[in-house]
Amino acid sequence: MRKNIVAGNWKMNTTVPEGVELAKAVNDAVASTDIKCDVIVGVPFTHLTAVKQVIDINKVGLAAENCADHNSGAYTGEVSAPMVASTGANYVILGHSERRGYYNETNEMLKTKVDLALEAGLKVIFCCGESLEEREAGKLEEVIGAEISESLFHLDAEQWKNIVIAYEPIWAIGTGKTATSDQAQEVHAFIRALIAKQFGEDLAGDTTILYGGSCKPSNAQELFAKPDIDGGLIGGASLKCDDFMGIVTAF
Ligand code: PGA
Repeated sequence: MRKNIVAGNWKMNTTVPEGVELAKAVNDAVASTDIKCDVIVGVPFTHLTAVKQVIDINKVGLAAENCADHNSGAYTGEVSAPMVASTGANYVILGHSERRGYYNETNEMLKTKVDLALEAGLKVIFCCGESLEEREAGKLEEVIGAEISESLFHLDAEQWKNIVIAYEPIWAIGTGKTATSDQAQEVHAFIRALIAKQFGEDLAGDTTILYGGSCKPSNAQELFAKPDIDGGLIGGASLKCDDFMGIVTAF
């Protein structure tokens, strides 16, 4: 059965005390609300251990926003998948367009990160998406097809069950410009068909595909009503508990 998920991506925001307060508020809100989806908070590395202490991990999943492409060793400043897992986090966001764009993460590097994350027992929220330039040049399917196939299609069916896809058109991230629900649905259907070709209809039907990019309480319901949109990866609106819960309760 396909899961609906709303995941927050806090990015590089909040101090540890602020993050703990936000996580507590989300945890309490989730505990006292009748919700119809899984909820995850994606937080900076520095926050993982402290946030883990104040959430019920069975009700609110915990994600890192990245992990290294090595497990240990002389990589100053990096944080590995086993380190993330040792905090009690159960997810990692990989391949966000900000990581790809600002830190030169390639499909090949992400393939390694995906393998190490799965090996460490983490589930992966794998981001893909096109720039406005690529969309206008008619390269959307080529770009997204390469991102997904080059980093994920070496996995076997058992491993695939730990993958969540997040479609995030780069032009919609933090810009206030949401893809229309029809635009998003079209790409989600394309992604599901791509997965079906590789893993079969059943596994593709069970795969959660999130939309991300200026998703907010006012547009979440329309987006989530589409047949291939199974929730959201939420940036800006995940930093306020009320806004985030407004999206969570859109299901
Ligand atoms: P946004 O970011 O919701 O602030 O547009 C989404 C994301 O980058 O995951």
